[in-house]
Amino acid sequence: MSGIIKSSIARKVSMGLSALFLLIFLLQHLIVNFSSVLSAEMFNEFSHFMGTNPLVQFVLQPILIFGVVFHFVMGFILEIRNNRARDVKYVQYKGSANSSWMSRNMIYSGIVILAFLGLHFYDFWFPEIGYKYIHFLPEDPNRYYGELVEKFHDPIRVILYCLAFVFLALHLLHGFSSSFQSVGFNNKYSPAVHKTGKVYAILIPLGFVFIALFHYFNSL
Ligand code: HEM
Repeated sequence: MSGIIKSSIARKVSMGLSALFLLIFLLQHLIVNFSSVLSAEMFNEFSHFMGTNPLVQFVLQPILIFGVVFHFVMGFILEIRNNRARDVKYVQYKGSANSSWMSRNMIYSGIVILAFLGLHFYDFWFPEIGYKYIHFLPEDPNRYYGELVEKFHDPIRVILYCLAFVFLALHLLHGFSSSFQSVGFNNKYSPAVHKTGKVYAILIPLGFVFIALFHYFNSL
């Protein structure tokens, strides 16, 4: 991907754009999943719609998966390039300028989120793809709630999920305002974006923690 996107500015902007897209996805994902706390019927309705709507399935979902992969691959490329720049004396100034938009802990929190996504896809996404597009099982609009709560019976999984959400908060604490900066958003509203970023970075992961714990304690 680095070969395709040659200039470091283009890499930075594309990283910011993919981050903004994922920030919107995360909010949407929290809203849909939070409905499982409020009502099983509402969650089933949302999930059935998302799971069967052709626009969501064949346009938005591939864009999302591309966005996730792009963000991770680009994150690694930027990390490697920043490290290399730090090692070479004559570009040291440039290197430290770059590292201010992506502090070192972004790569570590990112790796934890990547590991979480591996588990999360194993839990939900792969079975879903298998159900619909490999085994072609008949659609049951009421199956989603049961499939969701079943996963949160296991305390180990709940702990792993909640740990990952803490790292997600760390990633977002820097990442939210950084993504705005990377796409060139730098004006009198920047302090407000910064504050909104802090609120988002705490509330969204907290919402996911709440969902996981709610279903765990509900299953006891
Ligand atoms: C308690 C928290 C969460 C629950 C209950 C949950 C639930 C789900 C479910 C049920 C699916 C399958 C959707 C489908 O294809 O039918 C899914 C997919 C997915 N989740 Fe989560 N999720 C949670 C947290 C997260 C977090 C924190 C992230 C990102 C860091 C995330 C990223 C994704 C992605 C990328 C997909 C695949 C795309 C999609 O089909 O929507 N999820 N999740």
